[in-house]
Amino acid sequence: MAKQKIKKIAVLTGGGDCPGLNAVIRAVTKTAINRHQLEVWGIEDGYRGLIEDRIRPLSYNDVSNILTLGGTILGSCNSSNPFSFPVPSGKRMRNKDVSDACIENLKKRGIEALLCIGGDGTMGSAAAFAKKGLPVMGVPKTIDNDVWGTDITFGFNTAVTTATEAIDKLHTTASSHHRVMILEVMGRYAGWIALHAGAAGGSDVILIPEIPYRLDKIADFVLARSKKGKRFSIITVAEGAKPKGGQQVIYKKIKNSPDPIRLGGIANVLAEQLGQITGLSCRGVNLGHIQRGGSPTPFDRVLGTEFGYYAMELLMKGQTNRLVVWKDGHLNSVPLSRIAGKIKTVKTNNPLVLAAKAVGTSFGT
Ligand code: F6P
Repeated sequence: MAKQKIKKIAVLTGGGDCPGLNAVIRAVTKTAINRHQLEVWGIEDGYRGLIEDRIRPLSYNDVSNILTLGGTILGSCNSSNPFSFPVPSGKRMRNKDVSDACIENLKKRGIEALLCIGGDGTMGSAAAFAKKGLPVMGVPKTIDNDVWGTDITFGFNTAVTTATEAIDKLHTTASSHHRVMILEVMGRYAGWIALHAGAAGGSDVILIPEIPYRLDKIADFVLARSKKGKRFSIITVAEGAKPKGGQQVIYKKIKNSPDPIRLGGIANVLAEQLGQITGLSCRGVNLGHIQRGGSPTPFDRVLGTEFGYYAMELLMKGQTNRLVVWKDGHLNSVPLSRIAGKIKTVKTNNPLVLAAKAVGTSFGT
């Protein structure tokens, strides 16, 4: 429990951006000003701005008219870990713990608590700051919906909507050309976007990291469809899907990122392989960062508003070092220390996996 009533807070958005971040920033700032007469400061570009001392006051007007905006008005960064940050050391760069300097940057402005909006990487550093005695509150974001402890993260619904629209569009061109169209969506270790967009868009095959696929099974499935007169097929694949006993397709590695592996390219790999095995015309499409862009759906605006409001209420009730979550139909929170190193994956008995199988969708098994 915090001993004194907090008067000044700072907010940051870390990691990859996602639709709904501005809804949270707005809810946090307006709740803090309206209900608690607090001073709110905004940290630019996630932990990078905290390290580089780029922190500015956030007024009521600064957060007006941003509810419908995609991205984040504060900026974000997914390659700055305050506990292992590259600093010049002679002629070389060396990773150092710069967290004390970050805390000093807050202290000199009288900022007493930090509100971190981010995914697993951001929460890892938030938990480490909490351990050092800084009061912290976390709000989970990611289009991937894989943050442990919460049933849903804002941004996911918008990403699924975007991916579903893409599948709808691929249907018409696939059917005109009698093709197998393969849509790659984001999802490194969890296939939530592929599962939900694939089911919503009526994909014939859905491939997710949690269910390793067999190429021969996918080939047999699309050929069987062809024989039945279905002259096209749609496959939705998560970027992190992999064949049984095989590896994920890595696009590149990013130095100094808390999560350095960038996946990408599986749709084209599959198109090539399936084309050779089946003789069918196959094309791969990578939806990429389009899934992270654009205006949040009403669902994500609402969830972001609820999360931001609730984070402030918890903080003002003296609770700190927690992650706001949506659990079993209610707002709740879990200790930040409990989520470290965990992600929420799709279970093979997830009701949507079972329903998709029941309507004839293949998971490549
Ligand atoms: O964590 C969200 C995510 O969108 C992943 O699904 C994806 O692999 C990654 O971010 C891409 O990150 P970047 O913006 O660094 O390419």
